[in-house]
Amino acid sequence: MSKEFKRTLITTALPYTNGPVHIGHLAGVYIPADIYARYLRLAGRPVTLIGGSDEHGVPITLKARAEGVTPQDIVDRYHTLIKKSFEELGISFDVYSRTTSETHHETASEFFRHLYDKGEFIEKTSEQLYDPQAGQFLADRYVTGECPNCHHQGAYGDQCEACGSSLNATDLINPRSAITGAVPELRSTKHWYLPLDKWEPALRKWILEDHTEWRSNVYGQCKSWLDGGLQPRAVSRDLSWGVPVPVEGAEGKVLYVWFDAPIGYISNTKEIFPDTWETWWKDPETRIINFIGKDNIVFHCIVFPAMLMAYGDNFQLPDNVPSNEFLNLEGDKISTSRNWAVWLHEYLADFPGKQDVLRYVLTANAPETKDNDFTWHDFQARNNNELAAILGNFINRVIVLTHKYYNGVVPAAGELQQIDRDVMAEMEQLKTSLTENLETFHFREALKDAMGFARAGNKYLQDCEPWKVIKTDPERVKTILNVCLQICASISVACEPFMPFTSATLASILGIEKLDWNMLAKDVIPAGRTIGEPKLLFDKIDDAAIAAQTERLERIKKENASKALDNFKPAPVQDQIEITDFEKLDIRVGTVLECERVPKANKLLKFMIDDGTGTPRPIVSGIAQHYAPEELVGKQVLFIANLAPAKIRGVLSQGMILSALNGDGSLTVAAPSAKASNGAQVK
Ligand code: MF3
Ligand code: ZN
Repeated sequence: MSKEFKRTLITTALPYTNGPVHIGHLAGVYIPADIYARYLRLAGRPVTLIGGSDEHGVPITLKARAEGVTPQDIVDRYHTLIKKSFEELGISFDVYSRTTSETHHETASEFFRHLYDKGEFIEKTSEQLYDPQAGQFLADRYVTGECPNCHHQGAYGDQCEACGSSLNATDLINPRSAITGAVPELRSTKHWYLPLDKWEPALRKWILEDHTEWRSNVYGQCKSWLDGGLQPRAVSRDLSWGVPVPVEGAEGKVLYVWFDAPIGYISNTKEIFPDTWETWWKDPETRIINFIGKDNIVFHCIVFPAMLMAYGDNFQLPDNVPSNEFLNLEGDKISTSRNWAVWLHEYLADFPGKQDVLRYVLTANAPETKDNDFTWHDFQARNNNELAAILGNFINRVIVLTHKYYNGVVPAAGELQQIDRDVMAEMEQLKTSLTENLETFHFREALKDAMGFARAGNKYLQDCEPWKVIKTDPERVKTILNVCLQICASISVACEPFMPFTSATLASILGIEKLDWNMLAKDVIPAGRTIGEPKLLFDKIDDAAIAAQTERLERIKKENASKALDNFKPAPVQDQIEITDFEKLDIRVGTVLECERVPKANKLLKFMIDDGTGTPRPIVSGIAQHYAPEELVGKQVLFIANLAPAKIRGVLSQGMILSALNGDGSLTVAAPSAKASNGAQVK
């Protein structure tokens, strides 16, 4: 940190209330932000952690429409659920409010009005998509169609999820209304645009010159937006759900959700500090940190900063925007609409009292520099082999031995030996590294350091063997256990940001009233204090609990596949051909003699086919994700015999095996309906 700050304002991306929060949100935003806030509090530095629900936007109104309820019903349901589950997970928000609040509507309205009065907007009338049946304009997700970039069929009016590009509704090929399915028509409508291009030089300097320390994913994305050239962006929409545009002649128009939502950070600060909120936003000695996921980078680094600069009045820009990549679940992209997620409220119900386990696993696996994968197997292994076997085990042994030898009274240390001084020096190093990693938002590494205290303690205990020494040199055991208890105290401090529940239990056993970062690697438990009874901090998670989760996911996968099959629409038939074109294809029957995986190619299988000629024919086929090699051995298949041979991964492939591409993306190999002669031609 180049500059000294007086206080830190930490914001967390406000989750949309069109569904519950899942592990992807937690790993990407809320757990890292909470770790950082807890660390600053322990270090005695003033901090406020801001959260809240993002309750506007089209997905919420679409969901309300689908369920036949009002948008307010939807946001009330999920705001309540999300708020409660965050609390249970121990996310230590100083405020968790919502963008339907009165304070927010006023703040967002005033913000718009101020920019409007200053002449910061461009007013423009343009042609937008309009659904004549529904009688409304089709903003953002109200329209779907073909992506102009990758030709994916289900692209939305604001974004294509297949290729990730951001779109305007009018860019879509063959657009359709998401409300009625109608073909939209163009109608003209007036909107307000924020000229981002005006702020480009200031943004370039602020990010590309002054913030070279930002994570490379964030810096890189900003650079490519800036290098691509910024354009005016519409900040209003023709919708009825949202903050009404506060100017004359704007009936039926609301602020674009990405205009009002970040202002929510300000509104929520006002809610806790009605009189002093400005200190948190306008004093250059406040450090603002925005925790977000990678899909939010442009809004936090380009759009919102441009809004703040346009507002003026000394609004401060964020000092850092730590943004994570995505977390996958069992190898697949997490998806709310496909129910492919571990939902926080369900986790809390299925694993009561195990909040810290989830916090631990999601931090150990945090997608800080690249996308990462959550698996239930890894969750179980980390709990059993790390939390229970290392952390829980060390603490338990120390507490039990203290009770066994000294009735729970902390023994005084005698003269120190080298091994004692070594473990203390190791703790000093861990403290330095842990602090440094927390300061620079390297939370995975920081967690390793925190666990380092337990690893060091375990090793020390193992090397010192007090259970043997007690028979020969009972005085020495007093020192050993005193050192171990000090290590336990350091663990309760080091783990607090990551695992606050465990830390609190441990601190209470050790009789520590208030944890403090300065206690790390220090003697803080006085001799003579009576400590509490041992408590189980982590128990093993058994296979049955894990199987219940993986079976649920299997079930969802099957349901999704059958939905996809039901919704299958055959591709349009290709251009007509003549019979002579067909006759050029030499399709034949063959029997699979051998089949094996092609090394280092996860899609390819290599077949040897009996084609009736007596010489087995090699064919490489890209179906390894649909068939296990042994499944097809002995079966008959259809293949194209006169396809020009091609070298694939070093194997000369002589032909192509035919299969059907199904609606769920699976493949079925084509085969004769009854046994046929190898080499027989398909006519
Ligand atoms: N609701 C948005 C999302 O889930 C995040 C909004 S962040 C804020 O992607 F800055 F707008 F609040
Ligand atoms: Zn696309």
